[in-house]
Amino acid sequence: MALPTRKFDAVVVGAGGAGLRAALQLSEAGLKVGVLSKVFPTRSHTVAAQGGIGASLGNMGDDSWLWHMYDTVKGSDYLGDQDAIEFMCRMAPEVVYELEHFGMPFDRNNDGTVYQRPFGGHSQNFGERPVQRSCCAADRTGHAMLHTLYQRNVRANTVFFVEWMALDLVRDASGQVLGVTAMEMETGEVWMFHARATLFATGGAGRIFAASTNAFINTGDGLGMAARAGIPLEDMEFWQFHPTGVAGAGVLITEGVRGEGGYLLNKDGERFMERYAPTMKDLASRDVVSRAMATEIKEGRGCGKDADYILLKLDHLGVDVIEKRLPGIREIAKKFANVDPVRDPIPVVPTCHYQMGGIPTNYHGEVVVPAGDDPAVVVPGFYAAGECACASVHGANRLGTNSLTDLLVFGKASGNRVIEFLRENPGHKDLPADAAERTLARLARLDGQTGGESVHEVGAAMRRTMQAHCGVFRFPDMLTEGVEQIRAVSERVKRTEIKDKSRTFNTARVEALELENLIEVARATMVSAEARQESRGAHDRADHHQRDDVNWLKHTLWYRDDDRLDYKPVKMKPLTAETFEPKVRSY
Ligand code: FUM
Repeated sequence: MALPTRKFDAVVVGAGGAGLRAALQLSEAGLKVGVLSKVFPTRSHTVAAQGGIGASLGNMGDDSWLWHMYDTVKGSDYLGDQDAIEFMCRMAPEVVYELEHFGMPFDRNNDGTVYQRPFGGHSQNFGERPVQRSCCAADRTGHAMLHTLYQRNVRANTVFFVEWMALDLVRDASGQVLGVTAMEMETGEVWMFHARATLFATGGAGRIFAASTNAFINTGDGLGMAARAGIPLEDMEFWQFHPTGVAGAGVLITEGVRGEGGYLLNKDGERFMERYAPTMKDLASRDVVSRAMATEIKEGRGCGKDADYILLKLDHLGVDVIEKRLPGIREIAKKFANVDPVRDPIPVVPTCHYQMGGIPTNYHGEVVVPAGDDPAVVVPGFYAAGECACASVHGANRLGTNSLTDLLVFGKASGNRVIEFLRENPGHKDLPADAAERTLARLARLDGQTGGESVHEVGAAMRRTMQAHCGVFRFPDMLTEGVEQIRAVSERVKRTEIKDKSRTFNTARVEALELENLIEVARATMVSAEARQESRGAHDRADHHQRDDVNWLKHTLWYRDDDRLDYKPVKMKPLTAETFEPKVRSY
């Protein structure tokens, strides 16, 4: 069956920072661009980004892109591709100044330059001392960024499809990507978006875990679509647990709190990070801080009656600094933890925050897959940027602020690469006769299912399994069991049923479709984690406590069919700089 069809030069799926930055590049080049988003663009998850954008502007003291690169490579535990990392760190100041000129309301220094705050793992002179590199708008940087980029897109005539959910990627027999199928959430109508280029900027999938800083919309839609269309997912075992999610609520408390001088305490009132990271202390990289907190709790030094959280103290910063630099945090702490941080510390725990892996791309945002002896053959017409993509600049652990740097740099770069591709490939290629088949089969299964399982219950089983078996610390038997359990949940997803199928504005249908994406991400994560027999960055195994560069300095690729795993080399050679060779990582 043919679907009603709309045609665009480029379709961008997702309207967070990466999607809006890419769309802007394309629309300003005069292309006809359609952006699909499940929510109004300024409500995309980038809105929750608090602490800032990493860029070596050097407004608060000496800084250089090479130091930023060093910190990022080290932060990645040497799994990041050094060509992509060099590209990102070199480009970072440019994309920040562009935003400034677009009208982004950054905080300012007295001399009018952009204010920058310290953040974990960012240093001067190759690790000597903390540096102030994070360009911020109080603790609402993502909010300010989305509004700035959305307004520029409106001016550039980007066409927005708000409350539309992309369902499946369309590829022809040669493998070229020709667009997506998508559903209007209000009416349930399904359309074909026929595009000369398709760019995924669908964000993360942190909702595979029970405790997450992620919005409910972060359901890995791009990863699910890519996996179903035969694209492998890269490095999915690496998930970042942010040290400071509000205990019991999951809401993010920015690392900017520690950047501004806040610190963590255990039940004895001890500033324990001094023991784990003597130089950087509370500003060590996130994997290090999260593990230290989890260790304190495990060893009985957690706070509260159940000894299950850590305290984040910031009252000593004073009400003026808190109100000026961290107003949103005060509000979040009052609402979600019932404490006013100008007086009392905030109870926090490590909480799932960010996926380092994703759809494999090069640093131009082109999606690349192995073919024959070549580990990275471009999939024509297909691009990805932001959290859904794996460029790979974060490797095994991302530094705070580099998510916004990543989405700006690679949003723009992928837009530029699409422009070149469209110049060389005029006109739309014909859609294959079966272009809508996968989507129609999925919808028919859902609409026809009776006596099936509840989406909510199956989703909860997935989240419980991920949380218990694949958290901050990982144990071999738990991982092995986790693989079995997540495969069983995956079978249950195939039998989920939605109630009241007659309703058009049917959020239950959306949740069922989202779960089909989440479960691909969950399986990729568990299977990849079970296989990686070392500890690196955010992946910490009790049975292989050390990093193993001899056997495991390589990227994982997970294929949906049969949960197959393959590996590809890390790109150790930067574009112009010298390689940063793997070293013992200490802070
Ligand atoms: O802590 C934060 O403000 C989060 C920033 C990030 O994930 O980069």
